[in-house]
Amino acid sequence: MSTATRQMHLAAHFPGVNNTTVWADPRSGSQIDFSSFEHLARTAERGRFDFFFLAEGLRLREHNGRIHDLDVLGRPESLTVLAALAAVTDRLGLAATVNATFNEPYELARRLATLDHLSEGRAAWNVVTSFDAFTGENFRRGGYLDRADRYTRAAEFVATARELWDTWTPDGTPRPFAHRGQHFAIEGEFTVPRSPQGHPVVIQAGDSPDGREFAASTADIVFTRHGTLESGRAFYADVKARLAKYGREPDQLKIMPGVTFVLGDSDAEAQERAAEIRRRQVSPQNALLALEQVWGRDLSAYDPDGPLPDIDPDPGSSLVQGRVRHGDPLAVAARWRALSEEKGLSIRQTVIETTGRQSFIGSPRTVAEQLTEFVAADAADGFILVPHLTPGGLDDFVDRVVPLLQERGVFRSEYGGPTLRSHLGLAEPVWKG
Ligand SMILES: Cc1cc2nc3c(=O)[nH]c(=O)nc-3n(C[C@H](O)[C@H](O)[C@H](O)COP(=O)(O)O)c2cc1C
Repeated sequence: MSTATRQMHLAAHFPGVNNTTVWADPRSGSQIDFSSFEHLARTAERGRFDFFFLAEGLRLREHNGRIHDLDVLGRPESLTVLAALAAVTDRLGLAATVNATFNEPYELARRLATLDHLSEGRAAWNVVTSFDAFTGENFRRGGYLDRADRYTRAAEFVATARELWDTWTPDGTPRPFAHRGQHFAIEGEFTVPRSPQGHPVVIQAGDSPDGREFAASTADIVFTRHGTLESGRAFYADVKARLAKYGREPDQLKIMPGVTFVLGDSDAEAQERAAEIRRRQVSPQNALLALEQVWGRDLSAYDPDGPLPDIDPDPGSSLVQGRVRHGDPLAVAARWRALSEEKGLSIRQTVIETTGRQSFIGSPRTVAEQLTEFVAADAADGFILVPHLTPGGLDDFVDRVVPLLQERGVFRSEYGGPTLRSHLGLAEPVWKG
C-alpha cells in the first residue's frame, strides 16, 4: 500500500475533568449525564471512528489542600458508562482506562470480558499504572509501588488476564486455571466464557522507557502525548523498533497521540478561534495553577499579568496532588523563563503559549491534509481526538473533516467488520488452552 492511501485510525476522547474543555462556553454540557456520553459516542460512530475513549481519575485532585476547581464536577466510573453505551451503539469500540496498580486481575478480567460480550466484541482496556502515592491512599493497601514494580505488576496483570480469557475453550468448555507469579497467586475457574474478540484490545498510556517496553511487549495500541510532527516521529520510530525483540510486526501496535483541533470556514478564522479558545482555557486563576504545578510552590500572591517568579521550583513538592508533573521542574521553569523573556510574556501569556497549543488548526480541508500528512510521515497510525467542548465538540469534525478524509481514501466510509479488532486490522489472538 502506498503511503498516500495508508489508512488512519480515529478515536474520540470524552473531554472530562481537564482544562482543555472550555467549561465557560454556554454550549458546555454535563460530564455526568448519560446524554453527554451518548451524544459523543453516537457522533463518533456516525463518523465511523474506531473507538470511544474514557480516561480515569481515582481521586479528586487537590491544589494547595483544596479540591481542584474542575474536579468538583466529578467523574463517573468508566466500565459502567461503557456498558450503557454498548446498548446505544453498534460498531464503535469502547475503551476504558483502568488502573493495574489498584485492581485485581480476576475481577477486572471478568468485567472486561463481560463488556466484550455485551458489546459483541468492542471492548478495550487502557492499562495505566498511576503516577503518585496520593492516588493510592484511596485503596485498602494504601500507598504505592516504585515505577519499575508498577510495570512488572502491570505486565503480570495483563498476562494473567489473558490467561483467564483463555481458560474457556472456543467451543464453550470452562477449564481450571492456576497462576503463580511475583504479584499474583490465584487459581480456580473463570466465570465468563471466551468473549467475541478472544481478548479485549489492550491500550497502554505511559511514556518512560519502562512504559514503552511494556507497550512493545504487550499492547495493541499506545495512547501518547507526542502530538507534534517532530516528537511524534521520534516516538513512533522508538516504540516500533522495540517490537521485533518480542517477535511482533510494526502493524501489530498502533500509535495514537491525543490531539486537539480547531476548525473554521477559513484558515484565518480557525486561527482566530484557536487563539480565543486558548484564552478561555487559561483563565488568570488557571494560569497561576499551571505555574504552581511546575514550581511546586504557593504562588497565589503573584499577578497573572505580571512576570514569572524569580525563585526556583521546589522539585520535591507535594503542593499539587494527583497530577503528573511534566519533566524536570527546573528544566521546565528554565524553558518557560527563556520564552517569557524572549517574547516579553506575562505569566498567563506564557502558560497559554506553552500549555494551550492546539494540534491541528484550519479549515476542514487544511486539517484533513495535516492529519493525512502526519500519518504518511510515520508520526502516528491515527489520533485520539480531544474536543474542547462537552458533548458537541466532535460534531463539526465528523460533519466536515471526516468526509474529506474519506474522499482522500485515508479513512473508512463503512465499518469493515463488527469488532474493534476488525476496525484496527488486528488479528484475534490464537487460543492458548
Ligand atoms: C497520554 C496519556 C494518558 C494517560 N491517561 C491516564 C488516565 O486517564 N488515568 C491515569 O490514572 N493515568 C493516565 N496516564 C498515566 C500513565 O498510566 C502512567 O501511570 C504515567 O504516565 C506514569 O508512567 P510513565 O512513567 O511510564 O509515563 C496517562 C499517561 C499518558 C501518557
